[in-house]
Amino acid sequence: MKKKLHQWLSDRYISRVAVFILDLMLVVIAFAFVQLLLVLHSHVYMPLTYVGILLSSIIAIYGLSFAILKSYSGILRHSTFRDISLVFVATSISVVVLSIVNTICDSLYHFFMWTNTHLFVHGAVSFAALFVWRLSIKAFFRFTTTSRQIKEVRVAIYGAGVFGTTTYNVLKNSASPRYRVVAFIDDNHFLKNKSVQNIPVIGGVNDLSSLTSLNVQEVVLAISPKLISRKKKDDIATLLMKQKIVFKVAPETEKWIDGSFDVSQIKKIQIRDLLTRLPIEMNTERIGDGLENRIVMVTGAAGSIGSEIVRQICHFPVARLILIDQAESALYDLQQELKQNKVEVDIVCIVADVSNASRMKMLFSTLHPEVIFHAAAYKHVPLMEENPYEAIRVNVGGCRVLSELSVEYKVRKFVMVSTDKAVNPTNVMGASKRICEMYVQALALKGDHQTSFVTTRFGNVLGSNGSVVPLFEKQIAAGGPITVTDKKITRYFMTIPEACQLVLEAGFMGKGGEIFLFDMGEPVRIYNMAKKMIRLSGLEPYKDIDIEVTGLRDGEKLYEELLANAENTVPTYHEKIMIAKVRTVEYERVASSVVQMLRDLNVVSDLTLVQQMKSLVPEFVSNHSKFCSLDKAMMTNNM
Ligand SMILES: NC(=O)c1ccc[n+]([C@@H]2O[C@H](COP(=O)([O-])OP(=O)(O)OC[C@H]3O[C@@H](n4cnc5c(N)ncnc54)[C@H](O)[C@@H]3O)[C@@H](O)[C@H]2O)c1
Repeated sequence: MKKKLHQWLSDRYISRVAVFILDLMLVVIAFAFVQLLLVLHSHVYMPLTYVGILLSSIIAIYGLSFAILKSYSGILRHSTFRDISLVFVATSISVVVLSIVNTICDSLYHFFMWTNTHLFVHGAVSFAALFVWRLSIKAFFRFTTTSRQIKEVRVAIYGAGVFGTTTYNVLKNSASPRYRVVAFIDDNHFLKNKSVQNIPVIGGVNDLSSLTSLNVQEVVLAISPKLISRKKKDDIATLLMKQKIVFKVAPETEKWIDGSFDVSQIKKIQIRDLLTRLPIEMNTERIGDGLENRIVMVTGAAGSIGSEIVRQICHFPVARLILIDQAESALYDLQQELKQNKVEVDIVCIVADVSNASRMKMLFSTLHPEVIFHAAAYKHVPLMEENPYEAIRVNVGGCRVLSELSVEYKVRKFVMVSTDKAVNPTNVMGASKRICEMYVQALALKGDHQTSFVTTRFGNVLGSNGSVVPLFEKQIAAGGPITVTDKKITRYFMTIPEACQLVLEAGFMGKGGEIFLFDMGEPVRIYNMAKKMIRLSGLEPYKDIDIEVTGLRDGEKLYEELLANAENTVPTYHEKIMIAKVRTVEYERVASSVVQMLRDLNVVSDLTLVQQMKSLVPEFVSNHSKFCSLDKAMMTNNM
């Protein structure tokens, strides 16, 4: 019965207008009460006209202060200290205003109905009534939810600071599900065995084993992502998974509204949360100087990297932002997102193919871009292995068109987005990006122009289009199996925002001609990541979800090259950005090879195209690919 009542009530809310009217009715009842006291106790009889005038003034002034302070706007069953404070302030203001009006009327017109003390008593009775009515509704809802059927979830909060106590209040006030916070966990040893909000602090990460004895079912992480390392989060997750305790995370402060958040924003921790590293320090002043009042063009703007670069650039006062992509629907989605977020930047969306030289020339001559971030590319290794034609046409051809036009139209800055797969490439995709790097660098070193060319190189980003994390998520949702190409395969990961911050930072560093590398942190073993993702979903690897080892794909490496080490890099002022020491090639050589390759596209076979790539990039040795035969033939010729 109680459950049914709760279910029926939980979907129904009293409208704000109704709360406003009910609040005013309580003020009127309080008026009747005080008036009755006056009659019974002091035998004061007021003419009815006076009663009418006084009551109307009280309703008008209380109504006005309720409306201005919106004291009726909170959801009654979730009333908080803030809601009660608003009612208190609104009542106090009404008493003060009425007392002032009363005093003025008395001194000017000797028109006096209640003393100020009566007004004060009325204010106190009104506040008590408003307070008790809110409390009763809240207590009633608590009563209807405390049934045997609606179980309480026993929770511990990781973090006993301000974030932790806010999380405590949110959990405490949640009606469905109901949470009972039984412990705080905090690594600050001064807090151990003390209590916060009357809840014991059991200690830090080393004391997590005691959670089982407290029957804790969930732990909510309430520490800003800026203050907790990847390793620490991973350690906590591992310890909790062993005890079969669900690990959740409270929303970042940026997502709070009015100093709080909703219980629905507390989500199960995801692999992305575990792999996110401490945030990067950005030199926003330098980036701002580079972007301020400039016409900025982003190619591949609808892609994972391009769209995040766009989002980040929107925080700077650019003169205009030109978004170029050939994927119409994805570009439309981005356009809608930017409109919805009301970004205050002049944005032009253009559906175009960057390898189309005449179309690009027209756009350069009419739109006059001054800064370009080039992120348009084909990036999937197995697909490009099947389609060298497209890798050369789009990646190499697109880069050539844009970089040459940048020189012609005196673009100030050209930032090329490259990949770690360009280092000692083992596949067509990586080799095509290495050729782009060589082209851009050779053009930069040629030096007879005003454009500063910069290349940024980094490894996999978490959750980008078609990457491993969304793939595993889909496979888990479908009940498995998860497919891993090799048990030993490892990859470096950074988040998309992190990578794009570094692209912006590196973009405005140095003299031009550099290839900037990003510190990717520690490599992650994909097989272990798959197991962790299954466990984070509350399932068991091999019991609930199988992991299938499918064998390396064409062109795939077992271990990604370590992007940066002391021998192959030069440090910069930014600890996470290094300059690669690479072999440079003369512009004439790289340009003539590229022109030849592009000219041959429609007349020679894939094998010949890849052969041409290998001649320009001698370190390109194919792996698990039909093009391995070319390397064998070259070795035999050299012997
Ligand atoms: N995703 C990663 O993990 C990662 C890591 C390091 C480097 N990168 C590099 O970043 C770049 C972008 O990668 P992404 O992950 O954003 O890929 P993505 O596929 O999400 O985005 C690429 C975008 O380029 C567009 N595009 C492709 N060809 C085009 C053309 N001819 N004209 C206009 N637009 C075109 C696509 O429509 C797409 O929107 C690639 O060069 C990639 O190698 C990506």
